[in-house]
Amino acid sequence: MNPTKLLMGVFALVIGLGLAPLQASANPFPKGDVATGKKLHDPRCVSCHNSMFPDKNGTQLYSDEMFRKSTNAAQLRGMIEFCNTRTNSGWFEEEIQHVGRYLNDSYYKFK
Ligand code: HEC
Repeated sequence: MNPTKLLMGVFALVIGLGLAPLQASANPFPKGDVATGKKLHDPRCVSCHNSMFPDKNGTQLYSDEMFRKSTNAAQLRGMIEFCNTRTNSGWFEEEIQHVGRYLNDSYYKFK
């Protein structure tokens, strides 16, 4: 193997190892729990979203590019906060993390 190739191999390895921990913690809602988020979300948030669609499937608001407006995790968080305030759900950081994790892992998949 020529020295240049060897050097590039070492570089790739170093960069790869360096980025691995970053990717592992890339979830935008690291403290959230999916099951807890679903339990918080379903009773408060589903019926109104469902009522917005003729087929009563409100998850399209999250999953369908035609309806959803959030294009990144910060916007998703903003909408959760907006609907939280409007429904007087009284959620704090902890609950927002759970619901964000649930919606992001299930529908949005933002990094
Ligand atoms: C009274 C009706 C109503 C309730 C209850 C409600 N929402 Fe919403 N929600 C809306 C409407 C209307 C929109 C669309 C707003 C828009 O597109 O500007 C929306 C949009 C959203 C979006 C953004 C979707 C996207 O990516 O564009 C999220 C996230 C969301 N709601 C979360 C929640 C959560 C979490 C709750 C429960 C705390 C909740 N909503 C309760 C009416 C409601």
